[in-house]
Amino acid sequence: MHTEPKEKNQGWRAWKERLQALKNIPPLLGLMWKSGPGTVVMGAGSRLAAGIVPIATLDISRLIIKYLVGLSHKHPLPHDFWWLVALEFAFAAGGALCGRLIDYSDTVLADRYTRYISVRVMEHASHLDLVHYEDPGFYDKLERARVQATDRLATIRMTGQLLQQVVTTASFIVGIAFYAPWLLMILVLSIVPAFLGESHFAFLNYALKFRQTSERRQLDYLRVLGASKDSAKELKLFGLGSFLSGEYGRISDRLLKQDLALARQRGWVTSLLSVVTTAGYYSTYGIVIYRTITGQYSISDLYFLIGAIGGASSNIQTIFSTFSGIADQAVFLTDLLEFFEVRPAVKSSPNAIPAPRPIRDGFEFQNVSFAYPGTTRLILRNLSFRLEPGRRIALIGENGQGKTTIVKLITRLYDPTAGEILLDGVNLREYNLEDLSREIGVVFQDFMRYEMTAGDNIAAGRIEERRNVARIQGAAQQSGAHDLIDRLPAGYQQMLGRRFEGGVDLSGGQWQKIALARAYLRDAQLLILDEPTASLDAPSEHEVFNRFADLTSGKMALLISHRFSTVRMADSIMVLENGRISEAGSHGELMMSGGRYSEMFELQASSYR
Ligand SMILES: Nc1ncnc2c1ncn2[C@@H]1O[C@H](COP(=O)(O)OP(=O)(O)O)[C@@H](O)[C@H]1O
Ligand SMILES: [Mg+2]
Repeated sequence: MHTEPKEKNQGWRAWKERLQALKNIPPLLGLMWKSGPGTVVMGAGSRLAAGIVPIATLDISRLIIKYLVGLSHKHPLPHDFWWLVALEFAFAAGGALCGRLIDYSDTVLADRYTRYISVRVMEHASHLDLVHYEDPGFYDKLERARVQATDRLATIRMTGQLLQQVVTTASFIVGIAFYAPWLLMILVLSIVPAFLGESHFAFLNYALKFRQTSERRQLDYLRVLGASKDSAKELKLFGLGSFLSGEYGRISDRLLKQDLALARQRGWVTSLLSVVTTAGYYSTYGIVIYRTITGQYSISDLYFLIGAIGGASSNIQTIFSTFSGIADQAVFLTDLLEFFEVRPAVKSSPNAIPAPRPIRDGFEFQNVSFAYPGTTRLILRNLSFRLEPGRRIALIGENGQGKTTIVKLITRLYDPTAGEILLDGVNLREYNLEDLSREIGVVFQDFMRYEMTAGDNIAAGRIEERRNVARIQGAAQQSGAHDLIDRLPAGYQQMLGRRFEGGVDLSGGQWQKIALARAYLRDAQLLILDEPTASLDAPSEHEVFNRFADLTSGKMALLISHRFSTVRMADSIMVLENGRISEAGSHGELMMSGGRYSEMFELQASSYR
């Protein structure tokens, strides 16, 4: 074969891959255990019981036959004979009962597993740094982890089957060993070639599945792309549908070819090896028959041994296939397990202090420089400024100057690359993260439109207050959302968005009022408005900012805009340019100085005057 040398070169790598494929199995078992210890115990218990039923019934049958054979020699039927029959019946019935219990616990465990994994994925995701979400590779992984979280009934069932098969096989082997250890030797020796062959191919199979992971991901992507809301528009216009399905077909054909090649090879080799096993099986069979003829074994011994030998060898065969089935499934858990391995970098220090209430000195940026993780371009350079309680600061700068980045640093979605951010003279990193978040209310440019009720959309700002109708309505009144919610058919109970039945979609400006209400409900000491008005025209933005400025009068607030003409009501204005504050002062002062601010103000103001 022309691939021979390459295969040999990769020999040791292949072994590494084989072991890698197995390393998912312990965590898989761990996850099952954690999702429902009680259910696992019930399932495993019934599997153990069901596992010994075959040997027990075989042995009781042996005793029955022994008595019956004795009967033909004119011995009376012993008085406990019928008890034996009853016992065999009890075992058979018990086995059937275990079967039901097994089905039940498998189904329950599969549900619990899905629930456990889904909750863990959500919880883990919520603790990760924002930087992860901005990495497409991570996002991909998260998506696949979500898929892998569900529908693991087959894996759970196979794991239980494996346990049961091992117990059954072990019990048959003990039974055989009890009669004739040397018989066991022959049996074991004849199984060795099949064992090696089967495990070799099982490993090759996992290794193949592992190698195919990236192509399988590609298939997933194509399948999603070929039938998703986001892609439908372009796919139709560009006529890409058949191209995608063609690609899908091409890749899956290639994978199928690889699978088939291995399956064929496996089929041939293992068939030959199973002839060896069968030969071994029949030699022991022959020996047992010979010994029965010569009188060393009775008919009942013959019955038991034939049953035990047959049972042991057929169970060993199925153990292999069950095991490769489990390992196959485990390969697909890789993304989920890797996802759980991802750790947040931004987190509370172990002896974090609570955020100050009230804040006395405010926030201070000291020579802060920042480049996004994994990049080298400094978005902010040696930036220094203060946000003081009771003052409304406006931050303006053209698109891409780093205004939103500053918000991400204040809220510790990221930490600075150099320099320090202080709150009341203490580095932000010293504070408890959740506590700090509670003191900052932000309305981002791309704020969320939750497909929940209007009330819950506002309550999201402070979910503990979900039942506090008065506070929610108060926040809505402040933001100007109350009137519009009042006019909705179901008021605060109105489902928003189009996803769910009866949902009502709002206009951009209406959604924005709801987002503002969310920030007000937060009762935070610092309020930040980061261009949530970008979709509105300049006069409307002006109005929103005016209202915000009124509401935050006497409080600590940060207003962000790229429109120079909309923030004049702020107590102080900072112009962000090339990662630095290029000018700062009140509107009047900046206009007087005749710098960039006054220039841009005139330019932009004239466009809607
Ligand atoms: N997650 C990110 N990774 C790398 N660069 C980013 C990221 N987010 C923003 N940037 C870059 O940082 C710069 C500042 O962005 P941003 O703070 O959003 O600007 P602004 O809010 O002033 O419009 C832009 O050049 C943008 O491309
Ligand atoms: Mg921005």
